[in-house]
Amino acid sequence: MSFSLLRAPIRRAALPKSFPRTQLANQIRISSRRFSTPPPEAGPAPKSNTILYVGIGAVFVAAGVAYFTLSDSGSTAVKSGVQAAKVKANFVPTKEDYQKVYNRIAKKLDEAGNYDGRWFLWPVLLRLAWHTSGTYDKDTKTGGSNYATMRFSPESQHGANAGLNVARDLMENIKQEFPWISYGDLWTLGGVAAVQEMAGPKIPWRPGRIDGVAAQATPDGRLPDATQGSDHLRRIFGRMGFSDQEIVALSGGHAVGRCHTDRSGFDGPWTFSPTTITNDFYKLLFDEKWTWKKWGGPKQLEDKSTKSLMMLPTDYVLVQDKSFKKHAKAYAEDNELFFKDFSAVVAKLFELGVPTEQFVAPEPWIMKNADEK
Ligand code: HEM
Repeated sequence: MSFSLLRAPIRRAALPKSFPRTQLANQIRISSRRFSTPPPEAGPAPKSNTILYVGIGAVFVAAGVAYFTLSDSGSTAVKSGVQAAKVKANFVPTKEDYQKVYNRIAKKLDEAGNYDGRWFLWPVLLRLAWHTSGTYDKDTKTGGSNYATMRFSPESQHGANAGLNVARDLMENIKQEFPWISYGDLWTLGGVAAVQEMAGPKIPWRPGRIDGVAAQATPDGRLPDATQGSDHLRRIFGRMGFSDQEIVALSGGHAVGRCHTDRSGFDGPWTFSPTTITNDFYKLLFDEKWTWKKWGGPKQLEDKSTKSLMMLPTDYVLVQDKSFKKHAKAYAEDNELFFKDFSAVVAKLFELGVPTEQFVAPEPWIMKNADEK
């Protein structure tokens, strides 16, 4: 696949060096997109079963009539009914159906904006997709994105997952509208949308994850601890099957979003453009002078010049450890290289723990951005 295919249209939201919250909120507001759901269509019913086919047809014709006759506000309920009917009729979703889910996520996020004026939702969606995948253990073949076990306590309550209820609740709304999609597929598709809609590279993705049960949940301690060093990073990400280069590329996810004192205890964003994926995370690591923040919270670094940005101890080791540093430098100097490697490694991350035979397609798909024709 050529790299140009991987590249999503750039919608930069770079910010000035000082950014009051309200101004930041206005600047990062991604322009509103239009979304229209075409009339419901019949799913591909088994051709050999005429009765089933006619039955499905009747359900969909009825739903279709209602769809056209009801007002906009009523249409959501009708669409839910249609989705429920599809589930009952052993509906086999196509790539277009998954694209509709993608578009719905994008619309939902647009509508939500930066809710309550403090938090930006795309980054937390990426964090959900990463945390559902990052529990994978290659030796025991447990964890990963397959079963979406973060729905269950105690995994949902693990310290590393603090605040992800925000993303799960958001996705639950989408799930109500598209009950046929598994949580693992929905959450990882949300992560794909997050990267692509925040102007990052295309993330090859395909569905096939299935909903698991609470007994498949993973024990606490599988996700990285931000207060640790390079040995810890290698142990945690090595368990998932990632190399040094991949650890550094994945860490570029911290180009977006921020830490929240009421979630992880850490505070602040990593970059001046926290809703745009760029290699700024690496550039800032090299270009700024970082000092330990003097405060009552956990050990974190702040940039000397504005004191408005932060780095976690695990981010900072990327420029301290010799092997990590080599890759971080390469990404700081070459955004194209970062995009290419970030795309590959995030695609790999989101497929952790999913047996290949479960995927519906032999090769991952490239989903369209919400405003792509
Ligand atoms: C290298 C090990 C990692 C550590 C120790 C780590 C740790 C953290 C911590 C402590 C937060 C703050 C949570 C909060 O207070 O809201 C955070 C946020 C975030 N992380 Fe990581 N992370 C790591 C890797 C990753 C990876 C691999 C990705 C994605 C590819 C990622 C994406 C994010 C995003 C997007 C946020 C912001 C969420 C928001 O704004 O609500 N992180 N991470």
